[in-house]
Amino acid sequence: MAKKLWEKNTTVNPEIERFTVGRDRELDLMLARYDVIGSIAHSTMLQSIGMLTKEEMDSLHSELRNIYSTIEKGEFVIEDGVEDVHSQVELMLTRRLGDTGKKIHSGRSRNDQVLVDLKLFARHELQEVCTAVKELFDALIEQSEKHKEVLLPGYTHLQVAMPSSFGLWFGAYAESLADDMLFLQAAYRMCNRNPLGSAAGYGSSFPLDRTMTTRLLGFDTMNYNVVYAQMGRGKSERNIAHALATVAGTLAKFAFDACMFNSQNFGFVKLPAECTTGSSIMPHKKNPDVFELIRAKCNRMQALPNDILLIMNNLPSGYFRDLQIIKELFLPAFAELKECIRMVTYTVERIEVNSTVINDSRYDAMFSVEEVNRLSAEGMPFRDAYKKVGLDIEAGTFVPDKKVHHTHEGSIGNLCNKEITALMESIYSSIDFEKANTAEQALLGK
Ligand code: ARG
Repeated sequence: MAKKLWEKNTTVNPEIERFTVGRDRELDLMLARYDVIGSIAHSTMLQSIGMLTKEEMDSLHSELRNIYSTIEKGEFVIEDGVEDVHSQVELMLTRRLGDTGKKIHSGRSRNDQVLVDLKLFARHELQEVCTAVKELFDALIEQSEKHKEVLLPGYTHLQVAMPSSFGLWFGAYAESLADDMLFLQAAYRMCNRNPLGSAAGYGSSFPLDRTMTTRLLGFDTMNYNVVYAQMGRGKSERNIAHALATVAGTLAKFAFDACMFNSQNFGFVKLPAECTTGSSIMPHKKNPDVFELIRAKCNRMQALPNDILLIMNNLPSGYFRDLQIIKELFLPAFAELKECIRMVTYTVERIEVNSTVINDSRYDAMFSVEEVNRLSAEGMPFRDAYKKVGLDIEAGTFVPDKKVHHTHEGSIGNLCNKEITALMESIYSSIDFEKANTAEQALLGK
């Protein structure tokens, strides 16, 4: 049996074949379960429009569910000579069901198959990313609350500037994640539209019921215009990558802070020994490699939207094989980001805080503004108070009062963690993951 769906009466040069297939046989494994789910929905719809008998649909469903459990067991392979996951699934159906297997491709193309696979894959992965982000958020808020009384030097230009606190430091990254969640929400919603039925990018002369597949697959709506559905390839990956990149940006910045604060020269935090690594030559070392790797990976991930953009930027509408290459960058990004988020969460939950940082006199000057403000509140004009304190510091006579009185919203004494949490909750809880999960389970007969 020919293993290429499109093979007719000529054979392709093996080198050309190897080059065009590229890494699809490896990467498409990540799409396999979604290819099966998409095929269950498509065949249900084909039966409803009279293109398959009830018996044919039932046998396709039962074979597709068998294939799904092979995938779940990690036993699914794309055989030698088979181009991609779409061909492999069709080949398996045809081997087992003969002509019935050959009918499943009516009214679709691998172009809309891969589109729907990517959407279902990204939808699932985004759900996991959102959950991981929410867990990290909770850990940060917990640490912020726990250490809200502990002061920390704040820096501008990396020069000691003003009092900050661990409450502010942890809470800042939590609020950053609340903003990142907005991008994830937008990415999820944009992703949750059905491209199936666009076929090669121009629809089909069969009376496909796209409303039905949209409902069966748990999509919010369809990508209505078939040309736009195909044009969304690359665009949706780039937009989703943008959401991943913004989370990565938060993690990378936190990782830099954590490495720096963990250095002996700062000594603000200490990573527990189990989160550090040693040196082959220096017996005393406990290095923050975890955060260095997170920083590098997350910095690289911020280039992802741009990398995708550079591949698809100058393509006109319609399908091109260029789009295949985006999978190489896009598919592995989720696992990478999820791992980084989990690593940060694990360490944040265990990081030790130095509660006596500000006893060190090298940080005395950061209380200068507190003193200026105290004098101003007593009636001395701000500029005069500023000058007096400045001269006291120069003369070495400045005695800091290390009790700070910051009360406005978002400051040391009023972190607004409740409000930040409400913000996060309102975004996170508005993403309807259940709809997708329920629809997929129903298609799988679970
Ligand atoms: N591997 C292909 C991709 O990712 C699947 C679609 C193939 N379509 C085609 N017209 N050659 O784009």
